[in-house]
Amino acid sequence: MIKINKIPEFRKNDRYKRSGYRAYNWKMPPIYDSCIWMKVCKIDLLDEAVFRKISSSDFSIRILDVGCATGRLLYKLAKHGYTNLSGVDLAPRIIEVARKKLSNFKVNLNLKTADSEDNLPWPDNSFDVITLTGVIHHFYRLYDALKEAYRVLDKQGKLIIWDPWFPFIIRQIVNSWLYFFPHDGDFKFYTPNRMENTLTEIGLKNTQYRRIGIWVYIITGEKLS
Ligand SMILES: C[S@@+](CC[C@H](N)C(=O)[O-])C[C@H]1O[C@@H](n2cnc3c(N)ncnc32)[C@H](O)[C@@H]1O
Repeated sequence: MIKINKIPEFRKNDRYKRSGYRAYNWKMPPIYDSCIWMKVCKIDLLDEAVFRKISSSDFSIRILDVGCATGRLLYKLAKHGYTNLSGVDLAPRIIEVARKKLSNFKVNLNLKTADSEDNLPWPDNSFDVITLTGVIHHFYRLYDALKEAYRVLDKQGKLIIWDPWFPFIIRQIVNSWLYFFPHDGDFKFYTPNRMENTLTEIGLKNTQYRRIGIWVYIITGEKLS
């Protein structure tokens, strides 16, 4: 595992990123996959919803998982037969876990470290599907991050996002709390409406949203250009 002892210089206003980087570079790599939230959130159910949204019989489609962490979703995609898989994460050490986990699959794997709010290190139109699962509440610059995803999405490509959903009052309390006490990179829980507007603003069409259980929403949009 590579040793990186210094937190990179993030922009001044990205103070959440420091706490996220700390958590996902040092604390999370050995414990993330078995942490209690995976069970509480019924992660398999959420992944199934993502698979249904991908719904492609072409297993060579190019898939990018933004904020891929330990490669949890990429691993399932590889097991399912998808062969063109890419992932990006802010934290280099957690990416190394993903690399190790996927090393036994014969897939075209491309894992990179980057801040997806600044830059996704791929050329325009590189992917048919982009997933952001449990990631957008880490984004301080939501629009920038999604615009960048739009850039690397191919012309008929699909963006698939899920994130926790909270009733209004609880969301206000959690978001206010996070403002003062950043926790493991969590910045803000956005509403599905806000997400739908942002997806439309960046240029995506056919946006569709639905809740999964009472705790998560999934939203998709297509590039269609
Ligand atoms: C809660 S985890 C979700 C991981 C994974 N997508 C899943 O479904 O289990 C959030 C991940 O997003 C990454 N992340 C947060 N902000 C990011 C950014 N600006 N660019 C790239 N990755 C980011 C974190 O390092 C962390 O690995």
